[in-house]
Amino acid sequence: MQKNTKKSSIKPVARFNIKGIDNKKILNGVLPVRGAKNAVLKAQAASLLFSDEICINNSPLIDDVIKMNELLEDLGVEVKRMSERSFVFKQPKTFKTNLDPKIAKSFRASIVLTGPLLAREGKVSFPHPGGCVIGKRPIDVFLDAFIKMGAKLKIEDDRYILEAKHLKGIDLFFKVPSVTATETLIMTAVLINGTTKLYNCACEPEIESLADFLNLSGAKISGAGTPFITIKGGKKLKRGVFNTPPDRIEAGSFAIIAALCGKNLKIANCDPNHMHAILCVLENAGVDVKKGSNYILINAPSKLKPVDIKTHEYPGFPTDLQAPVCVLLTQAVGSSSIFETVFEDRLNYTNDLVRMGANIMNCGPHRAIVSGPTPLHGREMESLDLRAGLAFLTAALISESSSVLHNINNIDRGYEKVEERLNKVGAEITREN
Ligand code: EPU
Repeated sequence: MQKNTKKSSIKPVARFNIKGIDNKKILNGVLPVRGAKNAVLKAQAASLLFSDEICINNSPLIDDVIKMNELLEDLGVEVKRMSERSFVFKQPKTFKTNLDPKIAKSFRASIVLTGPLLAREGKVSFPHPGGCVIGKRPIDVFLDAFIKMGAKLKIEDDRYILEAKHLKGIDLFFKVPSVTATETLIMTAVLINGTTKLYNCACEPEIESLADFLNLSGAKISGAGTPFITIKGGKKLKRGVFNTPPDRIEAGSFAIIAALCGKNLKIANCDPNHMHAILCVLENAGVDVKKGSNYILINAPSKLKPVDIKTHEYPGFPTDLQAPVCVLLTQAVGSSSIFETVFEDRLNYTNDLVRMGANIMNCGPHRAIVSGPTPLHGREMESLDLRAGLAFLTAALISESSSVLHNINNIDRGYEKVEERLNKVGAEITREN
């Protein structure tokens, strides 16, 4: 049994050297998918709802998970690594109520700790959460909900301070179906006496897996995975085990790579039932996709067809796959359009693809027209955020010449040692620290 390593999230800035395979369809073999980042982070945070301990299995070994462990340890939780991908979280009697500003500012999911801490300890103070720079990313929905539940809010020295002797169950309509707000309010309501009803909730599968985990541990949550969720709360949960589901965004990212340069490439340990939107786009683009119960097998076609993409909350096309799929569209014969509806700044990466040779016309912050096919040329570039970083890696992979991708720490936040897995199926990517 090892203790969670404390300073492991502070890493030197690393880079990838990527050999371009010049659009050849040569990646062959099996690409295994790890546990879902956006599910495991919420299960880690949910450990605050328990009086004893929880175990998380199939955790991806990514930087955001390590940061969440560090943040929990700083609050007083004992985090122990039981095996490669399993961690146990043991709760202290009382928690510290200040989220460490340096760690909390470095990733968005830190916000989900605020509600459980407020409900459990009557107080929480925290900085504005950080994460990928893809838009404004306000937290007004969270703050409004906590105030409606009875908390008092102060803002001092860039910190939000919330206090409440007792929170009360409420009826709440989300003005936007926010994923982390839905998850945070579910968790908060589990500890509050009374019933909370949430309307216009996000419906992402990660929300359902969180609710299933909490229900199996004794919570009373109904409707998760639909826009209307009811929580009957009032007491701490005792113990629980969370088996992290496969990462549908990682699986989708790999499916896009396979659609560009895969030859019988198998994406293994995934759940195709959570991937309808991306698989539908690939099929419409002319990609040969075979689905099994927990895998997909993909053959890149000689010619890709253009497709129009509009991002949408689940089950629509995920915003997290918008940048990777844009790379695919640069190779389609004809014009495709992209309409990003969730975040304001999620088309910034297109400038770099244009410098690689892509023909992309931005029509405002939300729309782009991609015309193809255009050969891509390798170059030196920087990962702007997690998903744009993966898009650049994909573009570099199919380029005519080699590329250098800096700041790959952004990719490590969500994809575990992605180069090792891609190299096993025929890519040539080296990491340099
Ligand atoms: N919004 C508000 N006010 C709020 C909260 C959100 O206006 O208080 C708006 C946002 O500005 C955005 C929309 O609501 O326009 C939806 O954002 P949401 O809150 O759903 O995003 P999030 O919960 O911060 C999660 C994922 C993101 C993913 C989005 C959308 C985590 C930790 N993050 O973010 O994942 O893009 O849902 O599916 O779960 C990623 O993995 O690369 C990533 C960015």
